[in-house]
Amino acid sequence: MGHPAIVWDYREALEVTKDWNGIEEVVLRNPQGDSARVSLHGGRVVSWRNHQGEERLFTSSKAIFKPPKAVRGGSSICFPQFGNRGALEQHGFARNKNWTIDEKPPTLHPDDSQGKCFVDLLLKPSEEDLKSWPHSFEFRLRVSLAVDGNLILISRIRNINGKPFSFSFAYHTYLSVSDISEVRVEGLETLDYLDNLCQKERFTEQGDAVTFESEVDRIYLSSPNVIAVLDHGRKRTYVIRKEGLPDVAVWNPWEKKSKSMMDFGDEEYKQMLSVDGAAMEKPITLKPGEEWTGRLELSVVRSTFCSEDLDPLACH
Ligand code: BG6
Repeated sequence: MGHPAIVWDYREALEVTKDWNGIEEVVLRNPQGDSARVSLHGGRVVSWRNHQGEERLFTSSKAIFKPPKAVRGGSSICFPQFGNRGALEQHGFARNKNWTIDEKPPTLHPDDSQGKCFVDLLLKPSEEDLKSWPHSFEFRLRVSLAVDGNLILISRIRNINGKPFSFSFAYHTYLSVSDISEVRVEGLETLDYLDNLCQKERFTEQGDAVTFESEVDRIYLSSPNVIAVLDHGRKRTYVIRKEGLPDVAVWNPWEKKSKSMMDFGDEEYKQMLSVDGAAMEKPITLKPGEEWTGRLELSVVRSTFCSEDLDPLACH
């Protein structure tokens, strides 16, 4: 006779609390004691910790937690634009809006529910949003914490308008790193990128990895679906798997820009790297009734991870 199975009640593992501004936050936990916290302000993942309490997402000590300002840290949703084109605010309005918990989400693939603690959030445009972006949509965000501690973000955007609309998108994700000078990003080598520091001029990555010794603000185009961020100091590697998100934005403000940002410490650029799965170069167009899905999965592996072999199965 085997041991009786321990049944983890994922409903009970989900807790709704309030942050110090009174904004609702959902806490997800798995049986190992890993946790994630999701704010209803912006649908932002504010924290992602392993069972030892180690935080994987960076949040600035100077972050301003008062809406409507987007908080400097965590992982936030950039929609309906990523960047700062036209009249829309930088990175779109979704990260500054109050989302609701979606009690009756439409069914997802069973793999997206099984063995995971998750919450479904919903954003619909307000009158004010429709003035700046006159398109009716429903945005469903599922944030899941898997039994192995992986953090999974699934965005589904549906056009409920009478006309087609287009948008760009990103999961703007601040990873916590030990020392930016010791970090390398693998999987982007040989790709073309648009350099935001040179009026979006197009270049080709020449290095065998992206490393950091000054400000970097780039959009790598048509990247592989798995990339790795190696943090030698902490001997850990973030593995980023993405679907529906062809591009990757890589940003570190370095010294001078850090000093110019009110909600960021002068030296904090050393402890963060923003790596964003994005759909930016070619905007997504949805006809009436159509839906788009963009999925991002973050995991952490020990630095013995074979970075030259990004086949996920080969590295477990
Ligand atoms: C990055 C952009 O994704 O986000 C940078 O590439 C930008 O240009 C950075 O400075 C931070 O943006 P924000 O709007 O959160 O201050």
